[in-house]
Amino acid sequence: MLAVVGAGNMGSGIAQKMATEGFDVVLVDLDDDRVTRGVESIRGTLAAGVARRIFKEDDATAILRRVRPTTRFEDLADADLVVEAVFEDLDVKKDVFARLDRFCRPDSILATNTSSFAVTDVASNTRLPERVVGLHYFYHPAKNRLVEVVAGARSAESTVAKAWTLQEALGKTPIRSKDSCGFIVNRFFSPWLNEAVRLLEERVANTATIEAAAKQGFGIGMGPFELMNVTGIPIAVHTADTLGRAFGPLYQTPALLRRQFESRRPWDLSGDIDGSLVDVVTDRLAAVTFHVAAALVDEGVGTIEDTDIGARVGLRWQRGPFEMINKRGIREAAALASDVARRWNVRLPDRLLKQAASKQPFELRLVTRSVVDGIATITINRPDAMNALNERVMEQLNELFMLSVDDPGTRGIVLAGTGKAFVAGADIRFFVKNIESKALDRIVAFTKRGQELLLAVERSPKPVVARVHGLALGGGVEMALACHYIVATPKASFAFPETGIGIYPGLGGTQRTTRRLGKGLAKWLVLSGQAVGAEEALAIGLVDRVVPYDELDGAIQELIARGRPGARQPRAIPETHRAVADFFEHDGLDPAARAAAPADPRVATAVRRLGSKAPIALRIASELIDRGEKLPIERAVALELERLEEIFGSADAYEGLSSLGQRPPAFKGV
Ligand SMILES: NC(=O)c1ccc[n+]([C@@H]2O[C@H](COP(=O)([O-])OP(=O)(O)OC[C@H]3O[C@@H](n4cnc5c(N)ncnc54)[C@H](O)[C@@H]3O)[C@@H](O)[C@H]2O)c1
Repeated sequence: MLAVVGAGNMGSGIAQKMATEGFDVVLVDLDDDRVTRGVESIRGTLAAGVARRIFKEDDATAILRRVRPTTRFEDLADADLVVEAVFEDLDVKKDVFARLDRFCRPDSILATNTSSFAVTDVASNTRLPERVVGLHYFYHPAKNRLVEVVAGARSAESTVAKAWTLQEALGKTPIRSKDSCGFIVNRFFSPWLNEAVRLLEERVANTATIEAAAKQGFGIGMGPFELMNVTGIPIAVHTADTLGRAFGPLYQTPALLRRQFESRRPWDLSGDIDGSLVDVVTDRLAAVTFHVAAALVDEGVGTIEDTDIGARVGLRWQRGPFEMINKRGIREAAALASDVARRWNVRLPDRLLKQAASKQPFELRLVTRSVVDGIATITINRPDAMNALNERVMEQLNELFMLSVDDPGTRGIVLAGTGKAFVAGADIRFFVKNIESKALDRIVAFTKRGQELLLAVERSPKPVVARVHGLALGGGVEMALACHYIVATPKASFAFPETGIGIYPGLGGTQRTTRRLGKGLAKWLVLSGQAVGAEEALAIGLVDRVVPYDELDGAIQELIARGRPGARQPRAIPETHRAVADFFEHDGLDPAARAAAPADPRVATAVRRLGSKAPIALRIASELIDRGEKLPIERAVALELERLEEIFGSADAYEGLSSLGQRPPAFKGV
């Protein structure tokens, strides 16, 4: 059970998200009226979701039923995690934490959603500050995926890790921030808003022009003034006041922003756009962003990758600050940031100075590695692309994997993804682009490198565990299958969508699935694209363990301590899956077999699904499974490479890949 204290704008949204993801939630506020208002707000957001067909009526009812409103702190006794989202007042928060300390189990995690106080200060009234962390959500917390996970001075690393995993179980995209004023995102977002106001104050441009320039330059739907009108000018003033106190004049609230706040009126967005000023405005906004983003990285508040993810996921900017720097070129970006440094009489951050001296763009890592207790965790960190595999991801995975194999201090390796998904397959745009430019050889080279990496994973002398906490699609399943163990949470699901987009799995999916599950079930999954949840995956032997999110790391440690498993035999097929395994074992693609299919629900669904798949992809995938079944794995995966140009050269592959997400594909069998 989870809990939220404070049923206002943030608290009710956080509780809604927890309930939506299947958790029971206790929602506490001061009195019945306030807590009822919180529940009504959830009801309203859910009703809007039903109207927009995001939820079914029944789902909305079930979600609401999981939220238990109360005014009693005693009801929090059993919570695994309590998120505090009361007024932004340090005394109120400290008082709430002192009460949580009294009423909650000693092992429950206590989190604050404070925007401006130090987590360490909020935790100062508790007997067990090691179990307190910061979880800074963004409005609207049921819709915006970003959460900053903040360790206070005395937070235990195990608490932070647990809070992080739980955010993933909630479908959130966590980034790690130091306990520093404004954390990562507000640290650069607030000066960005301020700079927009200063441009107006200095009469460089009118609001309409600044809005247009910001939208164009940052790839956003709303400019700074419209945003402030929607989210509240008081919040912008409060944040700038706090940051100004912490970091000095560059961050301080502009006089015009304060006057607008005092007038209690929204910004007037009317006026004509002056196109000749757009570049000047964009440069000023970019300059301040580059400067403060580099400063926060200098201070160790966050990494360059997390800063970029914060901008993309939390603020919905098209690119993060460091990606924008790379796009402009490091020289030009450093020159812009130098203007800011001169204007405010501050130092240009070292990160920018060094990078400019190197004349190289920032190296933005898509894959990271951390080692704890001899276990190296290699994490794909592209949460907004659901960790899809592309050339750079593959290259970095390979580099960090080899490093871990060679590192004498590493005794086991974990492959993981951050955010909601484990790995959602390969980057479809990469395929489309190369088909269009007739560069199928690049697709072959990419697949070959991927296969080599997965062979190295399989042969690794150190045990390798796939940590599947969410969606694993196509290449994600293939990556997991190459590992010695697959550990999943109940949220995990597995599917091969390839034949539905005109291709077949090329990273060993047609081969390792057979070796794990036997031919019948392998064909069922690969050909029909049927998704299986964690429990079903466990029943058929696709995964080794299914554990709740808070036991994930323990389960991984245990498997690594066990070492590499011996040769694997497919598990006995459970009764529930015998019919579908038999059906596919004896060629489920044959029209006569399909017509005479046994009356089994899984077979019936599979037959229906086969009807919407690309015929060539089905045929080749089936042949590959048959031909590779008895071969050594190296030769078996080589078969997948041999047919790649044929499949990617087909009209159906182009149709399937280019229609994805837009319309159902119309396959022609050529
Ligand atoms: N609004 C945002 O965009 C945003 C974004 C991130 C973080 N935050 C932070 O989230 C927190 C909440 O912000 P909000 O906008 O939801 O505020 P809000 O005023 O809408 O809600 C606060 C709620 O807390 C309740 N409350 C106050 N004292 C309480 C107590 N002792 N016990 C139980 N309930 C109590 C209030 O009755 C109220 O319902 C603040 O710390 C804020 O800085 C806000």
